[in-house]
Amino acid sequence: MSKTAIESIRAFEVLDSRGRPTVEACVTLAGGVVAAAQVPSGASTGMSEACELRDGDARRYGGLGVLLACGHVEGEIAAALRGFEAADQAGVDGAMIALDATANKSRLGANAILAVSCAVARAAALSQGLPLWRYLAGDRQPVLPLPMVNILSGGLHAARAMEFQDFLAVPWAAGSFAEAMEWIAAIHRSAREVLEGRGAYFTGVADEGGWGPKLATNEAALEVLTESIERAGLRPGEQVSIAIDVAASHFFVDGKYDLASEGRRMAAAEFVELLEGWCRRYPVVSIEDGLEQNAWGDWPALTASLGGWAQIIGDDFLTTNPARLERAVGARAANAVLVKMNQIGTLTETFAVVDAARRAGWRAVVSARSGETEDSFLADLSIACGMGQLKVGSITRSERLAKYNRLLVLEKTAGLPHWSSVPALLPPRSVTRVS
Ligand code: PGA
Ligand code: ZN
Repeated sequence: MSKTAIESIRAFEVLDSRGRPTVEACVTLAGGVVAAAQVPSGASTGMSEACELRDGDARRYGGLGVLLACGHVEGEIAAALRGFEAADQAGVDGAMIALDATANKSRLGANAILAVSCAVARAAALSQGLPLWRYLAGDRQPVLPLPMVNILSGGLHAARAMEFQDFLAVPWAAGSFAEAMEWIAAIHRSAREVLEGRGAYFTGVADEGGWGPKLATNEAALEVLTESIERAGLRPGEQVSIAIDVAASHFFVDGKYDLASEGRRMAAAEFVELLEGWCRRYPVVSIEDGLEQNAWGDWPALTASLGGWAQIIGDDFLTTNPARLERAVGARAANAVLVKMNQIGTLTETFAVVDAARRAGWRAVVSARSGETEDSFLADLSIACGMGQLKVGSITRSERLAKYNRLLVLEKTAGLPHWSSVPALLPPRSVTRVS
């Protein structure tokens, strides 16, 4: 066996940032190189995501254990991959897809498969003496990504205190990643003061480390965020813009968008008008899952009315799935894709989606899950994709900072181009608050 061939693979049940079990895979190459990777887990998941295999044994972790998935890694997967060159990522991923033989990786588990896929890449990078981002990039131009950072949370990440899931700050005018983080820390801090000033009730932080306040309306979150940017000494729209993850599927009830906290329900057309009003009044440059995940008939209208102002991202809608992306490109149903490795389950398929987005002239945002681990793989992936955007959550909680901190170091050591080198990174607008 060559020194760079896979010799053995182990798997461990470890815990994610919500204290739920997840998979860590550890790959050993014949020459002695050892590398591990951990996979994340979502809460507001899309229906067409690859299947995360859970044990279903109510006596352990309420059924959420991943011992079956770990068993598949150490059994069938390890046996099938023994002798594969670690650098043959397509071969390794293809072999696991064939072995699983289901459309959504439900037999072996996407959590088992992805953990191995990432650990193999890391082992290959190590064996070649390359930083992970350099190895992953291949022929792509690596870029330091612009972070969109969660400041306020609602939806399934914050006990549904409001319906919209994420209100994020986009520090696009920062000259460096370090400056972006400094701005974000100031905004996060000022957001707390603004919330306290409004008497908004909150305890602790939400799943991604942002504040999970109880506000009178969803729109109030935009007021709070805009005010927080100003209070941090920054200019909304001119230096820091706003992104929203509506995560609309999770409050879509009987064909209507149900803003229960505000006591109103809207049909798609009216809901798009609401979002349009927000785009006019606040510096919103990015809207994710603005509509329900299977509302194929409504997405093109959303994109036609708001696509020039904001990037229209499909997350639950596209689930990092090449077939859904292709259909959406054809239908002009969005203009950006959220990239979450565990929605599809292998590194090879993840890059296929990123490259298809690039070819279509779409944007792509590399994203974490609400349940994360201390693994910083995503930082390297976001650089390697070369699409210039990253979404990892807020700046508290170390499963988020593992990624941000690696980027802070790589900015100083890797000589990467700034995100502004990516053409048409975001729609060209800078709107300051009108009110
Ligand atoms: P999830 O949330 O990881 O819970 O799916 C993240 C997102 O919706 O972007
Ligand atoms: Zn989302």
